[in-house]
Amino acid sequence: MKQSEYLKILSLSKRTLEEYLNWGEIEIPKMPIDKRSSKEESVKTFSKKKQPESVLSPKEMLETLKRTIDSCKECSLGNSRLNAVIGVGSPTADLMFVGEGPGFDEDHKGEPFVGKAGQLLTKIIEAMGYTRENVYITNIVKCHPMIDPINPEKRSNDRPPTPLEMETCKHYLDEQIKIIKPKIIITLGASSAKCLLYSEESISKIRGVVKEYKGIKLMATYHPAALLRNPSLKKFVWDDMKRVMHYLDTGEI
Ligand code: URA
Repeated sequence: MKQSEYLKILSLSKRTLEEYLNWGEIEIPKMPIDKRSSKEESVKTFSKKKQPESVLSPKEMLETLKRTIDSCKECSLGNSRLNAVIGVGSPTADLMFVGEGPGFDEDHKGEPFVGKAGQLLTKIIEAMGYTRENVYITNIVKCHPMIDPINPEKRSNDRPPTPLEMETCKHYLDEQIKIIKPKIIITLGASSAKCLLYSEESISKIRGVVKEYKGIKLMATYHPAALLRNPSLKKFVWDDMKRVMHYLDTGEI
């Protein structure tokens, strides 16, 4: 069969699936079959032989993932959150920051790390010579864990995610890592480090030691909220960030 016939059939099937989607039957990803973004690196999404190669850019794949997460109810956090908080930054970032979960400000804005701790994280990122736009910032869980889930408008209602909530949500982070392919992941705080490293050790023991997660370098460090409570921890975080910068500059760790 000619490639043009294949493309026609695919486009018809896509339209039919979209019809189903309108009736709430099935959810399909946006999958342009003939548009390859010239600026962004494109990724092949069909691997089987003899199938036409359909390409989605990392940006498009993240948009597709966002639509899935926006309607996720895999755990009860999906029932109380105001906004799913997926991530912000470059779809091809070398550097990925992973916190534990959105708080009040993030839930209201739909963006990670925008409260006081987030402002400090932005300063750290800028001190490293990056911006929020050219790194990627996300969390282990994408919905706001609340002490009182019927009251999302209440302040001081944040709690850390439970191990079960983190395990349930982690596959979305894995998907983000697969799409973005960062050179190094920085976990912020004990929850995200323990979750990705399956460690029970305290954050003071895990931090500053380069490990790996799914073949990608991982540096655990303190959460910016901990630095706000205890500024004497800042020097440790800066030491950790200097090692990360050295790795990104030289490829050596
Ligand atoms: N703390 C986190 O771990 N993540 C956020 O997005 C905000 C605060």
